[in-house]
Amino acid sequence: MAGQNVLKLEKLPGHVAIIMDGNGRWAKKRGMPRTFGHKAGVEALREIIKMSDEVGIRALTVYAFSTENWKRSTEEVGALMGLLLEYFRRELEELNRKNVCIHILGDIDGMPKGTERQQEALHRAIDKTKNNTGLILNIALNYGGQQEIVRAARNLAEKAVRGEIRPEEITRELMQAEMYTAGEPEVDLIIRTSGELRISNFLLWQCAYAEFYITDTLWPDFDREQYRMALEAYAGRNRRFGGV
Ligand code: FPP
Repeated sequence: MAGQNVLKLEKLPGHVAIIMDGNGRWAKKRGMPRTFGHKAGVEALREIIKMSDEVGIRALTVYAFSTENWKRSTEEVGALMGLLLEYFRRELEELNRKNVCIHILGDIDGMPKGTERQQEALHRAIDKTKNNTGLILNIALNYGGQQEIVRAARNLAEKAVRGEIRPEEITRELMQAEMYTAGEPEVDLIIRTSGELRISNFLLWQCAYAEFYITDTLWPDFDREQYRMALEAYAGRNRRFGGV
């Protein structure tokens, strides 16, 4: 397999998270509408998922749609929602065959009216792949990092009100267990394309000790070689987790 001879790294991240940025600019450079960039972005994503599976990454999280992205034009939101449906229609069987377990990070049922087909497709994908033991593919959708932390705090507060826990028993581990990524390794490497230096409300809890890799490459151009470079950069980092 391509991935096996490309990568002989001493250290592979267990969990990679990606902010797939720059689709709009990529399209603009070609004099095309932004939606053309998103379409190309999906193709880039397919390869990166494949390579993650091939090299043995445990979990891959991609930021597909934030809680703020609903503010974009109706046309762009519609196109992204269309791509999402098409993606699952085309890919679900193969992902399932490859033993990939799909998780959605974010509020599926809180998606606006008119996205019922998407919601149904997301639930179907989760259900179909829930017993798979290979790559965990987290798709962040209608997702916000602060919202995720608030949700975790609320869940714990409700448990406290019901008398199941006492406030002083709340620990990092109990918070972790309320995150969408409960049971998964912490994020080791976060990649952001298109050169922006922001976290954009992505995985605020999970990225506590993540290594950053920022590249100027626009997301549709982020290919296997670019991914290999990111993984190599990670392998060369000296992580201290607050120590010396
Ligand atoms: C950021 O680029 C990208 C997004 C907001 C959407 C990312 C989504 C995909 C790659 C495809 C959808 C995913 C699935 C799972 C089907 P931007 O539009 O902000 O680009 P810009 O900063 O250049 O304007």
